[in-house]
Amino acid sequence: MLRTLGLVSALALATAMGGCAMTASGSDMPPLPASATAPVVYPLDTHTWAQPDVAHVRHVALDLTADFTAHTLSGTATLDVQGRLGATEVVLDIKNLDIRGVADASGAPLRFVVGDNDAIKGQPLTVHFPALAAGGTQKIVVSYSTRPDAAALQWLTPAQTAGGQKPYMFSQGQAILTRTWVPTQDSPGIRQTYDARIVAPADLVAVMSAEHLTPQGEAAGSGLKAWRFRMTNPVPPYLIALGIGDLAFAPFDERTGVWTEPSRLRAAHDELVSTAAMVDAAEQLYGPYRWGRYDLLVLPPSFPFGGMENPRLTFATPTIIAGDQSLVSLVAHELAHSWSGNLVTNATWNDMWLNEGFTVYFENRIMEALYGKDRALMLQSLGWGDLQAEMAGLPPADTRLKLDLTGRDPDEGLTDVAYEKGASFLHTIERIVGRERFDVWLKGYFERNAFRPMTTELFLEDIRTHLVTTRALEDQLMMDAWIYQPGMPSNWQPPVSNAFVPVDAAALAFAAGGPASAIPWTRWSTQERQRFLAWRPPVPPASGRWFSDTQLADLESTLHLKTEGNAEVLFAWLQIAVQHRYQPAVPTLEHFLTTQGRRKFVLPLFTSLWDQHEWGRPIATRLYAEARAGYHPVTTGSVDAVVGRP
Ligand code: BES
Ligand code: ZN
Repeated sequence: MLRTLGLVSALALATAMGGCAMTASGSDMPPLPASATAPVVYPLDTHTWAQPDVAHVRHVALDLTADFTAHTLSGTATLDVQGRLGATEVVLDIKNLDIRGVADASGAPLRFVVGDNDAIKGQPLTVHFPALAAGGTQKIVVSYSTRPDAAALQWLTPAQTAGGQKPYMFSQGQAILTRTWVPTQDSPGIRQTYDARIVAPADLVAVMSAEHLTPQGEAAGSGLKAWRFRMTNPVPPYLIALGIGDLAFAPFDERTGVWTEPSRLRAAHDELVSTAAMVDAAEQLYGPYRWGRYDLLVLPPSFPFGGMENPRLTFATPTIIAGDQSLVSLVAHELAHSWSGNLVTNATWNDMWLNEGFTVYFENRIMEALYGKDRALMLQSLGWGDLQAEMAGLPPADTRLKLDLTGRDPDEGLTDVAYEKGASFLHTIERIVGRERFDVWLKGYFERNAFRPMTTELFLEDIRTHLVTTRALEDQLMMDAWIYQPGMPSNWQPPVSNAFVPVDAAALAFAAGGPASAIPWTRWSTQERQRFLAWRPPVPPASGRWFSDTQLADLESTLHLKTEGNAEVLFAWLQIAVQHRYQPAVPTLEHFLTTQGRRKFVLPLFTSLWDQHEWGRPIATRLYAEARAGYHPVTTGSVDAVVGRP
């Protein structure tokens, strides 16, 4: 697989891309199923200004130039708008955009109004046009620029990249950030096809969550290149994604591969080769992969998430490159979203468990298929531990699967409830109806609802029509309790991982005063190490400390935690260290917080520091002042709320 690596920039690109039919008419994606074209009932989404029943965007055509000095994207978004007979306006979502003008296809100006700003939703952009004919389409051309502080975009200096020579930029749309770089109807129920022409400095490569139509780029004036893309499957706008940087590509097989900076390509390739087998396993489980290629883009360390399921091109944090493939469940997760999320999409952010809960379940099935039941159970058990810990601190209303996020930032729904309680619900159904029947239903659910918005209520309708057809089964499953009641229903059975029994015993022995040398650390997998470090005594000691400084020093040196390279293990250790005010770990903490910006790691550590008042707050303030400039707006937005803006 590595034979093209020496020539990646030019040759592997050509091999991987040019190998497929990239003619103007040929798409490598299978045709849309009937469900894609059946009429949609738009659900009420309180996080958009759009009124899709009046007029909705069907297609977005971007023509944008990336300015790495001004930190802007500017150009046009040409929207195909359809709507009801006689409609004379369309309402779009924008946030922090500079709108220069709006015109029709002939260039004639159209009247537009930018409404008042809502701190969460941004502004409505209402465009007026002549009354729509029956089935008619109106083209509107919005000329605009993004602002340097667009929340979806991060502009990196060369120093923030692995190569250190060239700048980089990338977008992150979910949940409602696409409106900070594309003026469109930014609601997950309003699916749109898109194409794009992106102009960037000629020494950089642009990639998108779409088919590459110009694998080598095209000359576009002095020192510039243009890259063209096309997404022929209608997608929710949060899945429109762009990355530009010094990128190279290495294939895993004919339909999968990885993009990243050249100096990181071999490591990324070797770490993530199992991607190809994962796609095969996922198809075996729940039906054809509908997006053509499945590639990964491994981003610089400031990427604020673990992964983002952008179609055809999952964006991923480099913190999964652990050297031993131990964190590849993240790829299984993002890949699973190609069905749960990208095909069948939560209609509103209140239904986010339909995306994330289904995906965590599906991810676990992929992991089981590739690595066996023991590994899958360990992952389930770690998830259950995370959920328990998180639920303890949530208001009961936020522990329901179906949320009400009206007036709140949809990010507030981003808890383990959507992920782990959602997955637990599906594991419960599977246990009760049996895997075989469950799999038939789930495969059918993806087929019946492909390319359609899904609400919790439509999910219930689907499962009651196709799987849960008897009163007895209905009573056993307790579906309404799972969805609409807080906490875990009485038919919940926590996953039991036998592999964790000795780990818990070792944790107990250590907590009771045993030496760290008795811990069989080197024989343990990453998951066992995570379990060990996440373990807490059932009854917290009055002091709030369950280990002494001497014990922590023993742990730190015996397990070589100062030089731990696995981000998950290091994070779990640093949480213990901070919660114990363990000063010797502060340099390790400083290094971790200033060399990656994944919110899942950064936010809890700053929160833990803040909770350690006179000890932790000065450290938090100092480290945040140092680290903040390197973080993505998604991460700073969250950490600012804890530590304050330096
Ligand atoms: N779709 C999410 C990321 C997301 C959710 C971004 C909501 C913005 C709003 C992605 O699939 C995800 O869940 N990523 C996780 C990793 C996963 C293995 C649980 C992450 O980033 O940590
Ligand atoms: Zn996810």
